[in-house]
Amino acid sequence: MRVENSLAAKKHLIETELEHVLSRDDSPLFRVMRYAVLPGGKRFRPLLLLSSGAYFKAAPRHLVPFACAIELIHNYSLVHDDLPSMDNDDIRRGKPTCHRAFGEDLAILAGDGLLTLAFEVMAGAAVPADALGRKQEAIQTISRSAGVDGLIGGQVLDITLKPKRLTRPKIDELIRKKTGALISASIEVGAIIGRARPAERCAVLDYGKNIGLAFQVRDDILDSRRKKKTGIPDRPDYVAFVGEEKAGQRLEGLVRRAIGSLGVLSSRAEELHWLALSLLEPEREVGRA
Ligand code: IPE
Ligand code: IPE
Ligand code: MG
Ligand code: MG
Repeated sequence: MRVENSLAAKKHLIETELEHVLSRDDSPLFRVMRYAVLPGGKRFRPLLLLSSGAYFKAAPRHLVPFACAIELIHNYSLVHDDLPSMDNDDIRRGKPTCHRAFGEDLAILAGDGLLTLAFEVMAGAAVPADALGRKQEAIQTISRSAGVDGLIGGQVLDITLKPKRLTRPKIDELIRKKTGALISASIEVGAIIGRARPAERCAVLDYGKNIGLAFQVRDDILDSRRKKKTGIPDRPDYVAFVGEEKAGQRLEGLVRRAIGSLGVLSSRAEELHWLALSLLEPEREVGRA
């Protein structure tokens, strides 16, 4: 229970900060942005960031702006991912997608608003005078992961790669960019702000890379079980590529490798261990009763 309680406290911290940054005014734009973010999903990325940072003994107040920014970026990406010109989805987190609820124009702008707000939050992060270099490195890591070589580049591959001509390196590149990059960055930023030593930073980076890939393989498995209908059927998908059994084996292998990378860390890395295992056990979700 100790790990669950500690993760639940971290989730509460994230929710409070998201509510705070999204309560600036009551304009229609902020209303749509709040709809997109609150109440939210699993908060997996900010939990990884806070857990990684906590392992390296960074103060939560120095981590929270980056955790919040990562979640804002993730939510912008979902709003845009659901748009008619992208995945054309009607439901997200059990309620109508942003464009279904408010129209495409406001949904696009709310996504832009969330992305821009993320950078405002990171730029405004209060850090000690001797930590300005680390703050810059954290912002750069997050920018790269969300950008053309990360999430955006991955989304472009998602819409341009032909499922029939897919190869294993190509689908790996796709999932590493569209989903893995932001997840790896979450863990890396915890290590940056917490001044991790090189060997430990390498270990959590390796953990992050494996967790990032595992997360999308798992999402594709869950989507295939839900037989989720998207308006655009011809999209690369790990389960369609290798079949459900092999996808399950890959997921398990990636999670085991991630956990293996934690071997050089002390037993205080138990939250990272728990979060990795949550990808294999659907009932493991922070805050789920
Ligand atoms: C869904 O992400 C989209 C992917 C990148 C696979 P999450 O599964 O983290 O979504 P929420 O935030 O919990 O709703
Ligand atoms: C979402 O990927 C990835 C990003 C938003 C960057 P998917 O399109 O596979 O995720 P879901 O299934 O809509 O959540
Ligand atoms: Mg998509
Ligand atoms: Mg989608």
